[in-house]
Amino acid sequence: MNRLFVVSNRVPLPEKGAQAGGLATALQPLLEREGGVWFGWSGATAAKAAEQPARISHAGRVTYATIDLSKAEHDGYYANFANGVLWPLLHSLPEMMRFDRGDAETYFATNARFADTLVPLLQDEDLVWVHDYHFLPLPGLLRARGVANPIGFFLHIPFPSAEILALAPPAGKLIAALLQADVIGFQTSADLRNFAAAATTLTGARQIAAERLEIDGRRVQLGVFPAEIDAEEFAAAALRAARSPTVERLRRSLGGQCLILGVDRLDPTKGLVQRLAGYRRFLETEATWHRRVTFLQIAPVSRQDVASYQALRAELSQLAGEINSECGDPDWSPLRLITKGGPRTTLAGYMRAARVGLVTPLRDGMNLVAKEYVAAQDPEDPGVLVLSRFAGAAQQLDAALLVNPNDPDAIAEAIARALAMDLRERQTRWRAMWQAVTENSPLDWGLGFLRVLVQSASKPTAQVAPPHAKPLAPRHTPALHTPSNAIN
Ligand code: ADP
Ligand code: F6P
Repeated sequence: MNRLFVVSNRVPLPEKGAQAGGLATALQPLLEREGGVWFGWSGATAAKAAEQPARISHAGRVTYATIDLSKAEHDGYYANFANGVLWPLLHSLPEMMRFDRGDAETYFATNARFADTLVPLLQDEDLVWVHDYHFLPLPGLLRARGVANPIGFFLHIPFPSAEILALAPPAGKLIAALLQADVIGFQTSADLRNFAAAATTLTGARQIAAERLEIDGRRVQLGVFPAEIDAEEFAAAALRAARSPTVERLRRSLGGQCLILGVDRLDPTKGLVQRLAGYRRFLETEATWHRRVTFLQIAPVSRQDVASYQALRAELSQLAGEINSECGDPDWSPLRLITKGGPRTTLAGYMRAARVGLVTPLRDGMNLVAKEYVAAQDPEDPGVLVLSRFAGAAQQLDAALLVNPNDPDAIAEAIARALAMDLRERQTRWRAMWQAVTENSPLDWGLGFLRVLVQSASKPTAQVAPPHAKPLAPRHTPALHTPSNAIN
């Protein structure tokens, strides 16, 4: 039986409690049910990080293996290169990129340290599933260390055009190393097409089929695997939370006003500045709604060690102050901006209470909040989702009011339209979206990816055989269990 070995920078260690982020939402149900090892960063920095072994802990069927980063690794690998170069470029926001060659070197070196720590933990039949932009070169670094296990990679965020990616000087090296994976998965078919084009432009890869590349005699399988939520479970949580004292307090505080809700990590890609501009335009043009609406934006702070995130926090506070002082009244504040997070279940209750869900990222790999908003609604009296057409979720949720997040007038019009929408139209749109969010679960998503990984890795040309590679063990269907003699 294959053991699942997940690698991601952020590891949702149970003792840390809930943290905002779609990666953990997507992966947690799979690991909790199927068991496996979750390997990555502990979230801490330590002076002698490189000398420490991986820290191992267990909860339920999941084994967590994490390492600390040194301050230099944290800054160069995580804050500056992953979040200051790759994050903006992959979201097609190149003007936000701040490149420094030293940071790129630290990124590769830190990936190599992750690889060095990981290799001794791996067993022959493990399926290795690497996640997200922090670890683009990891498949190549693992192969170089003799790892012959099936390696899959999933990108949770968008993939840009080859021209934009090429703005990062090591783009070709990154993609060449990533192509050592057997399967590379994306949120949408547009991301997959962009990747295939970048791979053929920046490396020696050839596209031999719509979803297959060939490089150095090896085949690399590409695939589209939209990340999912457990909609039924989220709906039940929303129903329970709606009756909780916390959500009841929010409802009372609204005094019968309609709630417009946004829930996003405080991140430049989430379009929060443009969203506030859209709301302001709405307030300026729709005076009849004054005192009848409140916009609650929950934006838990994120990546405060990255300068652009600190600047965004300050800018949003200023804009929120301006909206309330210039558009509000002595007895009415139109906007509440909250930078604290809260339990996901409470968020579910807030979503159910909201007449409008405002989800307008400038670009987003998927955006699970959009799916959660749909799942949280009362089928008899559902709210309306206003969704950026540049979120991956817009492919499945095309019954939302789709907007261009760069256009404050479009956001203002969509808010007005959502608030005025009659019950029948709200129900029709919601039913189509409910259908979409219940079609697949996070388990279907994860097992679907792993099935393709197992099939692809068992094909003779799919794997490299570096000099000291262990032979590939016979493949099984991915019934994934942590053997009792796994890391202990
Ligand atoms: P991203 O991955 O960019 O943060 P997503 O919308 O895809 O964006 O995913 C965010 C996830 O984080 C959602 O599942 C949401 O419910 C969850 N979340 C948001 N705020 C919190 C919070 N304070 N605590 C725990 N989970 C949160
Ligand atoms: O899904 C995008 C993502 O970057 C995840 O990789 C990450 O876990 C989450 O957002 C939150 O970001 P961070 O781990 O930097 O706090």
